Amino acid sequence: MNQWNQLTDVFGCRWSEDAIPECAADNICIAWPSIINCIEKVFDKPARLKALDFGCGGGLFCRKLHEMGFAVTGYDESEDLVKAARVNIPEGVTVTDSAALAARRGQYDVITSIMVLQFVHDIEATAEKIISLLKPDGLLVHAVFNPEFIEENSGNPVFTGFEDGRTGYMELKKGVRIPVCNRTDSEYRDIFERFGCKEIYRDLPHFTTEFLGKYTMPFSTEKPEYLIQAFRKEGR
Ligand SMILES: C[S@@+](CC[C@H](N)C(=O)[O-])C[C@H]1O[C@@H](n2cnc3c(N)ncnc32)[C@H](O)[C@@H]1O
Repeated sequence: MNQWNQLTDVFGCRWSEDAIPECAADNICIAWPSIINCIEKVFDKPARLKALDFGCGGGLFCRKLHEMGFAVTGYDESEDLVKAARVNIPEGVTVTDSAALAARRGQYDVITSIMVLQFVHDIEATAEKIISLLKPDGLLVHAVFNPEFIEENSGNPVFTGFEDGRTGYMELKKGVRIPVCNRTDSEYRDIFERFGCKEIYRDLPHFTTEFLGKYTMPFSTEKPEYLIQAFRKEGR
């Protein structure tokens, strides 16, 4: 069974128009604005451009990309999160499977992947697959844990086993220990450059006072939680 199915209540939370779901508040309030800013810098008229959210979880960012004007596809390996995404996504957004995705090489203008790649062990193969799905000049934006945030939080109940600073576990729910690969910005840069991409954006957005006044996080918030990077696939 896919381990992420057990976190469907965390990552498959329901979208309501008038409230930010608490379980995704840090993602939505801290990571999303940076990701959206990066996408808007590259595409000022997203209408009809194709976007893929790789590792879409419960589909919340698919909704956002749809609102921004993209034709959106979501993809996730967890069957239960795919079911949750189908409840959250608006009409017109598709959630696809790996066979259908493999047939869409070179078709996406933008691919987002939010808090996914640190959970992927065979990163070379996955990076190659993601990049093959982009059009020439296409944009990949991804967010992972900032390595300094992991270091700061290593040993608290959520992040354990990072004695080597590289690999450990995230345990958001008791008993569900998800293996994490703690990679730096330069490691991701090297990987994506090997597949013909150029880094064009990097950001480490800090928690804001306003956010911390509203939400309580189960970890230290001194260091930025997210490392956000964007890569452009080299043109024809
Ligand atoms: C922390 S959740 C983030 C979900 C969503 N992107 C968000 O921001 O809420 C990680 C997601 O990555 C997915 N995932 C993990 N490994 C994957 C892989 N190799 N391919 C596709 N999705 C994967 C999981 O199923 C899960 O939905």
